[in-house]
Amino acid sequence: MASSSLLAPSSSRFRFKTVLWFSLGLTALFVFITSEALLVTDYPMYHAYRLQVIADRQLLIPHTLCGVIALLAGPMQFSSRLRQRHLKFHRVLGRVYVVCVFIGALTGIALAAGRPGMPGTSMQAAVWIACTTAAYITARNRQIAQHRQWMVRSYAVTFTFVSSRVLNLWPRYWSHLGDTFAAVGVIAFTLASLLVADLGLNWRELTSRRA
Ligand code: HEM
Repeated sequence: MASSSLLAPSSSRFRFKTVLWFSLGLTALFVFITSEALLVTDYPMYHAYRLQVIADRQLLIPHTLCGVIALLAGPMQFSSRLRQRHLKFHRVLGRVYVVCVFIGALTGIALAAGRPGMPGTSMQAAVWIACTTAAYITARNRQIAQHRQWMVRSYAVTFTFVSSRVLNLWPRYWSHLGDTFAAVGVIAFTLASLLVADLGLNWRELTSRRA
């Protein structure tokens, strides 16, 4: 597996990473306002789902807490500067990330149990755990280039929480596509996220010819 972004010149890589994290942060903020904050304030379109969320609260609290920690750990874990200066912090936060992904994935499966989204959620949880485990094992084996690649894939799955909610305010997306969409939508988002992550990892090889 290639590692284009790892080998790119440092100034353009820094610029790319800054723009990327800025865009991801803005998207997360947009989703927080249009999905989560409106869910809390009982926006009429989300009312039925809100009742379900309240009923699920015992699972949703650990699930959300772990998901948010995983989401916020990303920018810090991918920061080369922080890694170089505070390697111990990187290792501790990395372990916290792994534990959070496992708890987030298992509570995600429990939340979906008996619902139409169950097959998709189980597949997403399995991919989340597999990529994160591969990232952890490669880190333990000091295979650092592969460790970064698996972390990019793992974080791409973490970020599906955001990407899959970007269109929530659009009523057709939110409520009229039915159970089939619920079942396959999660799988589609997971595969698309992995594809985007791998295209990014191979960007240099895809856009330049070897001398
Ligand atoms: C950054 C990571 C994540 C965070 C912060 C997070 C947080 C949340 C929150 C706040 C909810 C309830 C409100 C809402 O739906 O917006 C929720 C629901 C749910 N999440 Fe997550 N989540 C994350 C990732 C995942 C992943 C990767 C899975 C799949 C394994 C998953 C499975 C579920 C399920 C099944 C529900 C219930 C949805 C339903 O009943 O329709 N979550 N999550």
